[in-house]
Amino acid sequence: MRSPCLKSLSITLIVALSTFAPRQGLAASPEPVKAEHGMVVTAQHLASDIGVEVLKKGGNAIDAAVAVGYALAVVYPTAGNIGGGGFMTIRFKDGKTTFLDFRERAPLAATKTMYLDDKGDLVEGLSTEGYLAVGVPGPVMGFEFTRSRYGTKPLKELIDPAIELAREGFVLQQGDIESFDGKTERLARDPAAAAIFLKPDGKPFAAGDRLVQTDLAASLSSIAEKGTDAFYKGAIADAIVKASADKGGILAKEDFERYQVRELEPVKCNYRGYDIVSSPPPSSGGLIICEILNILEGYPLSYLGYGSAETVHAMIEAMRHAYVDRNTALGDPAFVENPAAKLVDKSYAKEIRAKIDPFKAGVSQELMPAGFTESKETTHYSIIDDEGNAVAVTYTLNGSFGAGIVAPGTGILLNNEMDDFTAKPGTPNLYGLVQGEANAIEPGKTPLSSMSPTIISRDGKPFMVIGSPGGARIITITLEAIINVIDHGMNIQEAVDAPRVHHQWLPDKVFMEPYALSPDTRKLLSAMGHDVQVDENWMIWGQAAGILVGGENVAEIEAGGGARYSGAVDSRIGAGAARGY
Ligand code: GLY
Repeated sequence: MRSPCLKSLSITLIVALSTFAPRQGLAASPEPVKAEHGMVVTAQHLASDIGVEVLKKGGNAIDAAVAVGYALAVVYPTAGNIGGGGFMTIRFKDGKTTFLDFRERAPLAATKTMYLDDKGDLVEGLSTEGYLAVGVPGPVMGFEFTRSRYGTKPLKELIDPAIELAREGFVLQQGDIESFDGKTERLARDPAAAAIFLKPDGKPFAAGDRLVQTDLAASLSSIAEKGTDAFYKGAIADAIVKASADKGGILAKEDFERYQVRELEPVKCNYRGYDIVSSPPPSSGGLIICEILNILEGYPLSYLGYGSAETVHAMIEAMRHAYVDRNTALGDPAFVENPAAKLVDKSYAKEIRAKIDPFKAGVSQELMPAGFTESKETTHYSIIDDEGNAVAVTYTLNGSFGAGIVAPGTGILLNNEMDDFTAKPGTPNLYGLVQGEANAIEPGKTPLSSMSPTIISRDGKPFMVIGSPGGARIITITLEAIINVIDHGMNIQEAVDAPRVHHQWLPDKVFMEPYALSPDTRKLLSAMGHDVQVDENWMIWGQAAGILVGGENVAEIEAGGGARYSGAVDSRIGAGAARGY
């Protein structure tokens, strides 16, 4: 018999436990940030502040997205940029949607074999380092195209905060410093990059140091004054072309003069009643997220549970099949015919499900199409305004600090996006992606991307804004945040924090983040034939940034009692912040 004392202790415990009623998902995550009028979630807190200020002053989500895009180019130089490229998905307050492609284009002098030697072998580093790796940048044209069409504020007002941060500098915090880690040697190779991103003695910056970018301030000021011509027709293009010519690159003035933004129809699909809007080719992101979701719709993930062997097996097999399509069939729509309708067709997903053995891992080699031979630095931000306009932007320099080069006098870091092309069919790129002919290099072509800025609605109302960096893993990171919310009931913070798994067809391995799977689950998966490998490189696992509308999780939204906007930046990010008002 229990003593009265023990009995009262157990009653106290039960009361205490029910006071802190367990929520589904990861109770260890901090609470999402709540707000009623607008939310901005980015990888750097100063950029989030700037975005919220724009909203407070009556700008819409598109204005805020432009201001944040320029601000991140200053305060998040590892990935924020005007020397790279990106995508923007917009859902307007009336439910209409659009997609802006301002990704890099291959220079006109680019050739299919430009990264191969005489024997046809890939020359290591050619597609990732130096000027030969640089695609023609798009953000300045992309931001201006979108602002003039859908924004409400003048360019100068949106770019001024970024100019000030570049001119006056900002104090680096520990989170900022993390993205400089391990980059000293690479930045030191380019004197113009070293002069800005290393200390005068060549040492890396430390927390508390001030990063001042005078040349970048001048470049931004000239864009504020002269618009896109400053970048594409004026002194900035001239400086980049000259540096490229001096250092063995192929960028020409004509590449800049011909640069155009594409406004495209986004990819759309429906998952368990939720309407998904995401990136079309030249991104693979939207199509592959939809393909995987369509496959997973046939499995009761919510019942099987987060992290169970059955759920993870279904996810891996869906990823395996979808990444075959990604890597072999997709490319720039101006150059190749993408099987877009097929990939988002529910009957195609059903065919794939029929091939998935519920008890056994598939074999990637067996999915090899006939004739096919065998960072990570991007950043995503999510914004929603008081009227309900939602914007998801993912933009990138590709590698961390891009190609690690700055054209002298511009302060602008340049991308190494050319590495996203198939440099040699069957040979892995920076992200280990083994790709095919559809993504071969051609002049003026855009390399295939995985960037997946995604907006989800339900019953005609915005529900979720989400995306992430992570190279080839962008797709699965974004996907997992979506199913964590929809299937596993997590709140938005838990959904972006939860440890992840990834499969990309080749290599035929399941990558897991530390602690993503219990030892028991790993044993079950190994017994099915999966080769599970822990990947401890936290930087490759992305940094998702999400917003939920109407509550912090589905249960709260359905009960109708939540804050209007709940924002969450991935806890993996040191410097990011969700800010609302
Ligand atoms: N550079 C990464 C991507 O666009 O997928």
